[in-house]
Amino acid sequence: MKNILFTEAKLGPVLLRNRSIRSAAFEGMCPGNKISDDLVNYHAAVAAGGIGMTTVAYASVSRSGLSFPHQLLLTREEVPAMRRLTDAIHKEGSAAAIQIGHCGLMAKKSISGSCLSPSGRFNLYGPTWPRTISQDEISAIVKDFGIAAKIVGDSGFDAIEVHAGHGYLISQFLSPYTNKRKDQYGGSFENRSRFMVEVIREVMKFTQPNMAVVVKMNLRDGFKGGMELDEAIKTARLLEQEGVHALVLSGGFVSRAPMYVMRGSMPVKIMAHYMKNQWMKIGVRWFGRFIIKPEPFSEAYFLDDALKMRSVVHLPLVFVGGLKSRAVIEDVLAKGFDFVQMARVLINDPGFIDKLRTGEIDESLCCSSNYCIAKMYSHPMACFQHEKNLPEKWRTGLEKKCQS
Ligand SMILES: Cc1cc2nc3c(=O)[nH]c(=O)nc-3n(C[C@H](O)[C@H](O)[C@H](O)COP(=O)(O)O)c2cc1C
Repeated sequence: MKNILFTEAKLGPVLLRNRSIRSAAFEGMCPGNKISDDLVNYHAAVAAGGIGMTTVAYASVSRSGLSFPHQLLLTREEVPAMRRLTDAIHKEGSAAAIQIGHCGLMAKKSISGSCLSPSGRFNLYGPTWPRTISQDEISAIVKDFGIAAKIVGDSGFDAIEVHAGHGYLISQFLSPYTNKRKDQYGGSFENRSRFMVEVIREVMKFTQPNMAVVVKMNLRDGFKGGMELDEAIKTARLLEQEGVHALVLSGGFVSRAPMYVMRGSMPVKIMAHYMKNQWMKIGVRWFGRFIIKPEPFSEAYFLDDALKMRSVVHLPLVFVGGLKSRAVIEDVLAKGFDFVQMARVLINDPGFIDKLRTGEIDESLCCSSNYCIAKMYSHPMACFQHEKNLPEKWRTGLEKKCQS
């Protein structure tokens, strides 16, 4: 087996001690939209566990872009707390990144004040009925991304990851499924990608030169009528022209094909149990399994599409999706990807990377039961294997899933 994982590599101007990156996976640890000690401790643990760079997930550039009451909102007042977070990560020898985005039609109106989308249409997964975003609001949100980039730089982060995938606002503009606009932001690919290009330019303008700018994007939206690989390649080429430092290649659409992102099935009854809203509880319990359809899991599940992307773009690429074992990680890196991102294996064990390095393990104990996702919508994420007071029925069910 080759040893590429544990070699140093540069991501734009930032030198990483190895090629592993903790993928942005919503921690649910920002009650009141502010950084908590739990968030600092979790990322410090991942950093101490040997990761090259850890990414703080899903921070919103504006109040209108919030999906959750326990999600980080990027404001100037949070700079000292974010500085504490980046200091804790740096102390353990890891670089620090943060994912920034706007959720568009996934906004929770009670927290965000509004729910906006490129062409307001009912979103069953909110459930929300978003309002069509105006041109003035588009310009304001583009500016918010720049302001957020400045805040992130002032907080000591080494990299910014712009979320342009998974059916959040930039992806909603890119996708023909959610963008039915008739103005210069809708219709042709050039028009649908305009918002993304404006955001990236603004982010690049306000990002410090010693920081990396990474974009997480879809290879496919994951359903008929969504964005497919041909347009993903055009998106990647545009981003290459704009001078971003690397692309993270993912897929899926939260309001249409959520499990395409993570694969496997969702434990909907557990998800319903954790939900705080009574109507959502009932809805998810009874209809969850029809709405959140399972997608088969296999290791490195985006590999075929990611290799097609690798063959046509030149800029550094980050592979994500279903990495669990040293052998598959090394194989992916040997195939030409520059970095690997992982989420669930690091929720299962923040020390995973160092355990691979020392040879203590070759493979993660995570079995993609997706309990972590079911919980994260309303509580801090956690792996069921470490939950102390889990009902026995749940544990048996989840363990059974793991064996199948
Ligand atoms: C609990 C959880 C939360 C997630 N939240 C986000 C997120 O906020 N932003 C994002 O881009 N992806 C998110 N993801 C997707 C992951 O970043 C990653 O793309 C996906 O889980 C596949 O990687 P894995 O197989 O290593 O888990 C989340 C995944 C999980 C499991």
